[in-house]
Amino acid sequence: VDDSKVLVVGATSKIAGEMARLLAHQGAKLHLVARNEERLIELATELARVTEVSFEVADLTEFGRAPGLVHRAVEELGGLDEVYVLHGDIGDQLESERSFAEAERILSVNLISVVALLIPIANVLEAAGKGRIVVVTSVAGDRGRPRNFTYGAAKGGLNIYLQGLRSRLAHTRIRVTTIRLGPVDTPMTAHHRKNFLFGTATAVARDIAFARANGDVYVPRYWRPIMLIVRNLPLAIFQRFGFLAGR
Ligand SMILES: NC(=O)c1ccc[n+]([C@@H]2O[C@H](COP(=O)([O-])OP(=O)(O)OC[C@H]3O[C@@H](n4cnc5c(N)ncnc54)[C@H](OP(=O)(O)O)[C@@H]3O)[C@@H](O)[C@H]2O)c1
Repeated sequence: VDDSKVLVVGATSKIAGEMARLLAHQGAKLHLVARNEERLIELATELARVTEVSFEVADLTEFGRAPGLVHRAVEELGGLDEVYVLHGDIGDQLESERSFAEAERILSVNLISVVALLIPIANVLEAAGKGRIVVVTSVAGDRGRPRNFTYGAAKGGLNIYLQGLRSRLAHTRIRVTTIRLGPVDTPMTAHHRKNFLFGTATAVARDIAFARANGDVYVPRYWRPIMLIVRNLPLAIFQRFGFLAGR
């Protein structure tokens, strides 16, 4: 049995909920942070039957709260071993091309709020000398596509930030894992047409919870070769495929 002290940010996401269940059953002590109070209490109540759980409600775009959220987690857990960051919002791409407010919102939720959290998280773990940081980004960050490039820019920026953080912490025993996640059937993709490449929340939650690489991990794994091709396709060829260049 594992008795890790684990912070899960964005805990009410479908994938995070599945992951928290897995970690709880492994014996991890959990501190959950999410925006939706009702769903957070529901999840915490369920998990409390299995393990020790504490939680805090927060809109993560209130960036100034980030240090307090992290320090409260450390207090509640009595230390910190692992952090999983899963909140995100794909937003409205077309609206983000008409209105800066939507573009700003997408960049705030998916990039700036995560950086705000990673500053205190990295410093707390660095002081302890060990730990694991796992952040869920997206294959959308690998190449800008008309369908979701505002969100993709945020996730791609996050990939670079995490790469730098990993290098900064390379002399410590802190691992930084970037999960480049492919499409998954969750509320975020409720209105997207599903195809055979879609993952399920339960399967990807397992891959995320057990990823140990100090690097970038594609989940599911088949996205690594697919994105290698997508990243390298010349624009003229890229434009010919509706599933890549379409809206
Ligand atoms: N599903 C996919 O196809 C896919 C693909 C690649 C990457 N991802 C990434 O995977 C992660 C998990 O997403 P999911 O698929 O599990 O989607 P989900 O069930 O829709 O969860 C998204 C979560 O983000 C939270 N959130 C959004 N804005 C927030 C804010 N300002 N403050 C606090 N929480 C906020 C939502 O909280 P509320 O319930 O309060 O709105 C919700 O719990 C996200 O980072 C997403 O970008 C998903």
